[in-house]
Amino acid sequence: MKKRIAVLPGDGIGKEVVKGAIEVLQAVGERFGHQFYFSYGKIGGTAIDAAGTPLPDETMELCKESDAVLLGAVGGPKWDRQPPHLRPERGLLKIRKELNLYANLRPTHYYSSLSDTSPLRKEVIEGVDMLMVRELTGGLYFGKPSERTQQNGEDAVVDTLFYQKEEMHRVIKLAFELARKRRGKVTSVDKANVLESSRMWREVAEEISNQYPDVILEHMLVDNAAMQMIKNPKQFDVVVTENMFGDILSDEASVLTGSLGMLPSASISENGPYLYEPIHGSAPDIEGKNAANPIAMILSAAMMLRLSFGMEEEAEAIENAVNQVLDAGYRTRDIASFGKKQVSTSEMIEEVKATLLDNEAILNIMGAYA
Ligand code: IPM
Ligand code: MG
Repeated sequence: MKKRIAVLPGDGIGKEVVKGAIEVLQAVGERFGHQFYFSYGKIGGTAIDAAGTPLPDETMELCKESDAVLLGAVGGPKWDRQPPHLRPERGLLKIRKELNLYANLRPTHYYSSLSDTSPLRKEVIEGVDMLMVRELTGGLYFGKPSERTQQNGEDAVVDTLFYQKEEMHRVIKLAFELARKRRGKVTSVDKANVLESSRMWREVAEEISNQYPDVILEHMLVDNAAMQMIKNPKQFDVVVTENMFGDILSDEASVLTGSLGMLPSASISENGPYLYEPIHGSAPDIEGKNAANPIAMILSAAMMLRLSFGMEEEAEAIENAVNQVLDAGYRTRDIASFGKKQVSTSEMIEEVKATLLDNEAILNIMGAYA
C-alpha cells in the first residue's frame, strides 16, 4: 500500500519523538512492503517563528491532502507571553477544529513490565484496560465569548461552555460503538449536579443507550471519576466525556500504568484525515537532551496504521516490539527504575526498530521450516 502522511513535529521534544515514529514506520514499510510518503509541515511556536502564525494555511492544505496526520507536540516558554491568538496551542486547537476531529481516543492499559513505575500498587493496576473518549471540538476550549471584561468597573473574565446537542450525540454514540467491540460498558462522566450542559449530556447518553441494549451505561460525576480512577481503575472500560474533563482525566489515566510518555492518541472525524499525537506536551525542560520517551508517539503511529489504514497486523507488530523492548528492561528516564537499563530517546527508537526487523528474521526462519 502507498500512503501519504503529513508530519507536524511542532515544538520541544515533539521533533525528537516524531523522528521515532517515522523511523519505526519505515521499518514497518520495509517489513510489510508498504510505501509511506512523509511531508513535513509547521505548527505551534515553530510556525510562529517561521511564518508569524501557529497554523499556516500551507500546513492545513498539506493535512487535507494527506491520508493521515502525525503530530508531535506544541508549546514552550518562549511563546508564553504571546497574545492568545499567537500562542502555539492555538495552532493545535485550530487544526482539531478545521479537520473536525470531534473525538479523541486515549487508550490506557496495564504493562506488566512497568508495574514498578506506577504510583499505585500492582494489585490495583493489574489488568487495567481503559479507553478514554474525549470530545475534542467543543466545550470551554472553543465557546465564545472567551475574554477579559469589566463588571461594575472591576476587572472580570468570561469563558463559555457551549455544545450543540448533535456534538454530544456523535461522540457519545462513538463511545457506545467502541464499547460494543470491547467489554460492553460506557462510563459517561459529567457534572450534572451543577452544570446544565452536563444535564443535557446525560440525557443524550440515555437516549443513545436505548439503542444499545448490549452495552451498560453508567453515569459518574467528574470529581468522583477522578477518585475512582485511582481507587479502582479496573472498573472502567470506555469512558466518554466532554473536552475539558477529558483533558484532565486523561493525564490522570496515563500515570496509572507508568508515565505520560507512554500514552498515544487518535483524533477522528467523520471523513478523515485523522490525526495522531501523543497525549504529552512539548516538555521544554528536557528538549534537546535526548531524554524524552518516544513510545507514546510510536504507539500513536501504530494507532494510525490500525484506524486510518486498516493495517492491524502492522499495528500489532509495533505494539509487540514496544512490549518486547520494555520486557527486555530498556527504559527512558521517565520510566526508569532500579536494575533496568536506562536509555536515551534515540537508543529507545533503535531498540524498537531492531526488534521489529528482527521479528522478521525470526518469521523468515520459521517460514523456511513450515
Ligand atoms: C492535550 C493537551 C492540549 C489540550 C493543549 C496542549 C492545548 O493538553 O492534548 O491534552 O489541552 O487539549
Ligand atoms: Mg492535556
